[in-house]
Amino acid sequence: MSDEFRSIEEARDGLGAAGYLADESTALVSFLAARLGKPVLVEGPAGVGKTELAKAISRSTGRRLIRLQCYEGLDEAKALYEWNYRKQLLRIQIEAADAGWQEVRDDIFGQEFLLPRPLLTAISTPEPVVLLIDEIDKTDQEFEAMLLEVLSDFQISIPELGVVEASTRPLVLLTSNNSRELTEALKRRCLYLWLDYPDVQRELEIVRLHAPELDAEMARKLVEMVHMVRALDLKKPPSIAESIDWARALLLLGADDVDADVLKKTMSIIVKHRTDLDLVAERVGVKLGDGVLGAQRAG
Ligand SMILES: Nc1ncnc2c1ncn2[C@@H]1O[C@H](COP(=O)(O)OP(=O)(O)O)[C@@H](O)[C@H]1O
Ligand SMILES: [Mg+2]
Repeated sequence: MSDEFRSIEEARDGLGAAGYLADESTALVSFLAARLGKPVLVEGPAGVGKTELAKAISRSTGRRLIRLQCYEGLDEAKALYEWNYRKQLLRIQIEAADAGWQEVRDDIFGQEFLLPRPLLTAISTPEPVVLLIDEIDKTDQEFEAMLLEVLSDFQISIPELGVVEASTRPLVLLTSNNSRELTEALKRRCLYLWLDYPDVQRELEIVRLHAPELDAEMARKLVEMVHMVRALDLKKPPSIAESIDWARALLLLGADDVDADVLKKTMSIIVKHRTDLDLVAERVGVKLGDGVLGAQRAG
């Protein structure tokens, strides 16, 4: 096994140096993943740092990141490998005149005509990599079963070429926004990490990391406001990504406070549904009039 992340502290510090503020369970799971060589399934709402965790692990271990972005209808040809039909056709045309079929066949199903996709690339790359299988919940169960096979043997069989085996085990992260329940079989194979919205303190640290020029007091008000908005029953609550965007926007706009007026003008940066906008304007707007933010900080 590698010498990456020799302790939980080392994992946390390594991720921190790579710009990712990991909480206790994130540091623990990252450490275990590196030591045990087991894939990690990271679940949680959108925008809480699932994808970024894989990127940060890649940065801090120096492993190259290979990403498979999942979508509805993703198939093996786009995930594993496919044959370069056009190139094969060209070769057939050139060879056809004076070669037998067997000869042509052996030729057009060689390495030269293979198009490796992320899973094959991750397995066949000789140096250690981080494999990010992003938003696995968007694929179907059939795809999940195929993935399970790859993740249990770390090998891919190509009928025309033979079996490709991983020489170094990739560090695998799968993410899911929970749009469908994943199979028990997949969960069994993986370490599990649930990422949720952080508490005010951690989110404040994250926002300050991404927008260091923002005044500390303003950053705190902004994060408190986001937490207040998140507590409403919204269609799509603002995530860390929105907090960061908001902080950067306020910097650009030269705002010097986070008050009812600023909220009214810039609300659409953190809330992106018509009905949610109305709700926030009504509830938070009123609260701000009563000076709730200041009271919260005092208490
Ligand atoms: N713990 C963290 N430390 C630093 N930045 C974070 C952290 N969590 C989230 N972020 C930032 O929040 C944003 C959204 O994260 P992302 O990984 O895209 O979310 P997800 O994949 O869960 O939808 C990114 O800009 C990321 O850098
Ligand atoms: Mg993501």
